[in-house]
Amino acid sequence: MAEILAVGEALERALTLLQAGDVVAIPTETVYGLAGDATNGIGVARIFEAKGRPRFNPLIAHVADMAMAERIAVFDPLSKKLAQAFWPGPLTLVLPQGPGNGIHPLVTAGLDTIALRMPMGFGGDLIAKLGRPLAAPSANSSGRISATTAQAVAVDLGARIKLVVDGGATPVGLESTIVKAEGAGVRLLRPGGIAAGEIEAAIGMELLRGGGAGVEAPGMLASHYAPGAAMRLNAGTVGKDEALLGFGGQRAEGWRNAAAFLNLSVSGDLREAASNLFAYMQELDRSGARTIAVETIPFDGLGEAINDRLSRAAAPRDNAQPTT
Ligand code: TXA
Ligand code: MG
Repeated sequence: MAEILAVGEALERALTLLQAGDVVAIPTETVYGLAGDATNGIGVARIFEAKGRPRFNPLIAHVADMAMAERIAVFDPLSKKLAQAFWPGPLTLVLPQGPGNGIHPLVTAGLDTIALRMPMGFGGDLIAKLGRPLAAPSANSSGRISATTAQAVAVDLGARIKLVVDGGATPVGLESTIVKAEGAGVRLLRPGGIAAGEIEAAIGMELLRGGGAGVEAPGMLASHYAPGAAMRLNAGTVGKDEALLGFGGQRAEGWRNAAAFLNLSVSGDLREAASNLFAYMQELDRSGARTIAVETIPFDGLGEAINDRLSRAAAPRDNAQPTT
């Protein structure tokens, strides 16, 4: 069962867990977040694992200050203005990623954009001490509503995580507002803790609405990284014009002659496989192979999310179904 520590006594313990690639539930001004080091693939994989029946939706990366934000993403003038007006606070900005920012691709589900937010209070202190951004979705198991008290987090996720930091009831009580600068305007991707009108007042124009990147349907295939190559799942054989994405000790027939070969986890560890998934798909795609053949991935634990992501990548794009 998770330990519950008050914010005043939790900093060192939280740091130790995060530095070891583990996850910690933390209070933010919006809702509780399930945080992991955004540069550590195993830490990020553990977030999805702890949420149960996970999907690899892109996560928000939380930063301590503007300098950290600018090492991660490229700010256009409008986004910068919004950051200055509302950070720290319940506003999330979707921005293009900067090169070599160290963010693990599982955080962004392989996208070339990233959602950034600077939280108030304990979260900000923790990130500053850690010196690295924290990836954190709301601290609830998949399909449940976001937790706004430490007790609600403990009841829901307590058996799966080691520490809940108790900061009392979260003041805002609903998730951050998510926006993205688009051309000369700013699109509202998810309404949340800052009213649209406040944002409109800050930028002096109306927000664009609807038809955006589909944050309310975050699993939408078209908004995710989809490889140029076709994907062939549960492959027991591989052709020499195909790349092979392996798992464990299977070695699909013909693997030695495959155009390229990467193994998600030689030891069959699903957490390791999850942390390698997006980077390896991208690398095999760059090999120029027509098809990426993928060995069978078991469905237990994170295997469900891995299979979910693979079948979305394999599906024809015009069949994309929004999911939540
Ligand atoms: O208040 C909040 O935002 C809380 C606290 C913990 O910070 N976090 C939160 O995270 O609500 P989560 O994972 O439950 O929701 C994040 C949303 C998802 O709808 C996701 O699809 C979207 O952000 N998102 C993340 N990265 C994105 C990107 N690059 N482009 C578009 N949407 C993105
Ligand atoms: Mg959520």
